[in-house]
This record gives sequence, C-alpha cells and structure tokens, in this order.
Amino acid sequence: MKKLLTLIEEELAPAFEKAGYDASYARAAVSNRPDLCEFQCNGAMAAAKAYKKAPAVIANDVAANLKGSRMFESAEVANPGFLNLKLSGSFLADYLNDMQADENLSVEKAKDPLTIVLDYGGANVAKPLHVGHLRPAIIGESIKRIGRFLGHRVIGDVHLGDWGLQMGLIIVELKRRQPQLPYFQEDYEGEYPKEAPFTINDLEEIYPAASRKSKEDEQYRQEALEATYQLQKGRRGYRALWRHIMDVSLPDLEKNYDRLHVEFDLWKGESDAEPYIADMVEKMKADGIAREDQGALVVDVKEEGDAKEIPPCIILKSDGAALYATTDLATIVERQKLYQPDEIFYVTDKRQEMHFIQVFRCARKAGLVPEKTKLTFLGFGTMNGKDGKPFKTRDGGVMRLEQLIGDIEEEMYRKIVDNHEIDPQEAKETAKIVGLSALKYGDLSNQAPKDYIFDIDRFTSFEGNTGPYILYTIVRIKSILNKYGAAHAGQEDGAMQAYANASEKALMLELARFNGVMENAFEEAAPHKVCSYIYDLANAFNRFYHETKILTEEDKARQASWILLLRLVRRVLECCIGVLGFEAPERM
Ligand code: ARG
Repeated sequence: MKKLLTLIEEELAPAFEKAGYDASYARAAVSNRPDLCEFQCNGAMAAAKAYKKAPAVIANDVAANLKGSRMFESAEVANPGFLNLKLSGSFLADYLNDMQADENLSVEKAKDPLTIVLDYGGANVAKPLHVGHLRPAIIGESIKRIGRFLGHRVIGDVHLGDWGLQMGLIIVELKRRQPQLPYFQEDYEGEYPKEAPFTINDLEEIYPAASRKSKEDEQYRQEALEATYQLQKGRRGYRALWRHIMDVSLPDLEKNYDRLHVEFDLWKGESDAEPYIADMVEKMKADGIAREDQGALVVDVKEEGDAKEIPPCIILKSDGAALYATTDLATIVERQKLYQPDEIFYVTDKRQEMHFIQVFRCARKAGLVPEKTKLTFLGFGTMNGKDGKPFKTRDGGVMRLEQLIGDIEEEMYRKIVDNHEIDPQEAKETAKIVGLSALKYGDLSNQAPKDYIFDIDRFTSFEGNTGPYILYTIVRIKSILNKYGAAHAGQEDGAMQAYANASEKALMLELARFNGVMENAFEEAAPHKVCSYIYDLANAFNRFYHETKILTEEDKARQASWILLLRLVRRVLECCIGVLGFEAPERM
C-alpha cells in the first residue's frame, strides 16, 4: 500500500497542475501545528519565486481545486501561504481498513529483493559468551528481521572467531597440562580419540588461564603464536584438537543465542575462510597491490583526502600467519562466490571501525566484489554500567551473558509477583518472555552507535519507554479482545468507521505511519526507529483506552469499529516486536 503522505501528494498534484503550477510543488508533510491540521503543504512558498506570485495567491488557487476532495475534510490557507490539510475521518478509516486486509499490514515488499549477507554475532569459540556479544546479536537479529519483513533475502552469519590466537593459547595450555595426549606428537599417524579431552567447563577455565599466562610470559605467547600458525597450516593433531574445541563450544553458544531468540542461517567462522586465503594472496601479489614490509605482506589503503592516517592492511604476518583482516577478506571472497550478495553488512563494536575501513578498501582494491556490491559497517557503542564504564560483574569481572539474562529474569519475576497474584510457575515463564523484551528493547531503543547505560531497574519497569510497557499494552489489548470475543462469538467483522474523538484520531494516524516507519528503519538500519514508533503507538493507544469505555459502549456499530481498531493496533505492535526479536505473553 502507498504511504499516506504519498497518497496526499498524489491528490495535491492535479490541484497544482489544474491551477497552472508544476506538480513538483505538491509536497506534503506532517503538520507542525497538529492543533490545526494533520498535514500541510508548503509548496506555494516554493512556487512563489518561480511564478513571481504571492504564496497566498498560489495556495488559494490550489485550495480551490481541492474542494470536493474525498480525502480532505478541509484545505485551508494560512499565512503566508501554507495549505493546512485536515484529513477526512472516513478516508483515514478506509486507509486502515485496507491496512487490516493487507497481510503485510500496508508495508510493500521490495520489488527487487536484495541479497544481503548479514555478519553479526561474532562470538569467539572457547570463550564464554559475554556481554560484549550481546549488542551485535540483538541489533543484527533485528536488522535481519526488518530486512526480511520488507521482502529482502537476508542471510545471517554468526561468523565465529575460531581461527585466531585463542586457539593457539588453548592448544599450548593443554599441552602443558596433558603432554601425553597424541595430538602433540608430531609423528603420530593413528586415529585421534572421538571424545574431546576436556569439557566446556574445562575450556572456560583453560582459556582465561592461558590468556593470563601469555600476558606475563613472552615465551608462552610465542609458543601460542606458533601453535596458531601450525593449526592454520594444517598440522593434523592441532586440527583434531580444534575440531574438539568446536564440538564442545558450539552447543553452548547455540544454547545462549537460542535463549536470546537469535537465529543464524550460517554457522560459519573465520576458519571457513582458510581455503580461500592462498589464492587471494597470490592474486594480490600478481596484481601488484600487495607489497612486502619488514617481512609482512601488506596492502596500502590510504587515499588522498583522508582526514586521518589509515595504516596499510596487513595480509600476512612475517611468519606467514593469517590475521583478522586476512580472514575477513577471504570471507568476502567466499561470500561472493557462494551468494553474489548485493550487500555485505557487518554489525560490530564501533572500535573496529578502522579494521573495516582497511578491509573494505583492500577488498575494493583487490576487486574481491563487483563495484556495485555494498560493503557496510554498522559500529555499535558500548553497554555501560551505571558508573558510565563498560558493564562488569559486581566484582569487576567480565559479565557472562547467561548471568546477565538470569539477573534480568529474576528482577522481572520479582516485579511480576509483586504486581499481582500469580502461579509461580506461570510467573517464571512470563518473566522469561518479558525479561527478554526488557533486555532487547533496552538495547534497541538506543541509536546503535551510541553508548548506553544498562539499567536493570529502568529496563524492567512496566512504565515508560520500556519493553515491558509495550508488552503490557499488548496484553491489555488482548484481554479486551478476548472479553469482547467471548460475548460476540460468530459476529461478522464489518469495517472501521470514521473516528469519534481526538484520541481515536491520533491513534489512527499513528497506525497509518507504520509503512513509512518500517521502510525508513530498513533504509537506515535503525531498529531504534521501530522502538520509538511503538512507544508512540502504545501511548496513543493507552490515551484512547483511558478516554473510551469500549466494552460498555451502547452504540454497537461504534463498538465493533473500535474492536477492529484494537485488532489492528495489536497486529502492528506484535509485528514490530517480532522484528525487534521478542514476543508478548498471554497475560502478565
Ligand atoms: N569475533 C570478533 C570479535 O569478537 C567479531 C567478528 C565480527 N565479524 C567480522 N567479520 N569481523 O571481536
């Protein structure tokens, strides 16, 4: 369905033309005097210069041609030449009736769907998922869902960190602890054990221990670097250990992402880039874009006009080992080969901005993707604690994601049982659902690049701009609809009527904005726009609800119309929280 503003402009255009003015002046905007009208057209002011006439004259000419329009209740000229447009109630109701009948709720699917590889998640294997991986998961998942809702083909890839130094560190630490294992014997030719020589709990202790040691002991670090290189080069025993590390870590990662309702289409990682590295490097050399620098292989990516220094992109270290940029570049090669995407979109900590500038420029220089392929980086800010510093556990450690989710659910549970009497088991289930909304909405309602403060009290509140407030609104609507439904089983649906009061009109106008909001949220990769929209919509609904006695209304046609309106509000809210990545309970 066309956007309301588009329809208004289409109505204005012939009115301008008939009066002898160019249709390009027929631009409409939301009114900045909502007390006077809903929309306005400032085209007469713009046309005044070109036609050397007073704006009011032009506006009057146009207004005269709008008499009898079904769309406007009135089109009045205000000084110096504004056209104040009041929408007719029946036109607005019809628009919403069409929206109700549209399975995509007025949002048009893309005519030429794009293939977008969305790289988000980015968890590192063998390290427990910590809060640093919360934002990419939450933001990326929402961007994916918004894109799909608009009809695009979005392929979500977790792109695990599974090829870097952390693997070498684990190998070295294991070797110290269990040197007798066959993985470490270079001449071993037999089969390796099927079972991993460690559990997830072991791993979670081994990695931090190894990481600590490598910072204190240079030789230990060198060994880990060497082991990483050997692993990358294909040393059998290390590859077998790597497989074990993956097998033990993945189920744990999956479990955590599951809990967040974050679903990846691809569980690929940096290691999947390995088969593409050698050819890519050779080509870079042959094309003369890569050069040697102190033994390392680098590609210069600085450009004229750079405001800051952009260092060369390091492709291979002097020992020949691949780096973060190497795997990212080779992954672009793979993605191009497998999906020919229109866009590759990365959601990562904004501190990685320089890395992506280098990688994108290098990819262009090396021609890894066609010129028309977009490479996009969305850098998000840090989630801080109330002290304004990156969020930590109470004792200053890195907060595990599991714990954070657990804390939110607990607080939510407390608020739910405080609120009203409820069976503890149901309260627990509800706390999970509502807790997720608190966490996700608390994050997504901020512009992604900004830092924000994780405030469990505020996020879990039933009031204000929070996930639970939105869910509460949905639950309230469901309850009214259920009560009405029980009393009116089998009744025909009918259609929405023109609004009866100001709060109803405001609510209807909010609903009509939906398609524009979704399109814009996709174009700008901005889930926060969906959040601020549903906050406005929920507020508009609650104002209407407080002013209107729906269930006791005597005018049955009016009541039925309100019920349709409520159904539409519910569907729009549910659709929005769906793209934000959470859902509403039946009761709360
Ligand atoms: N594993 C990385 C990290 O924890 C994030 C990966 C982001 N994606 C990418 N293609 N580099 O920092």
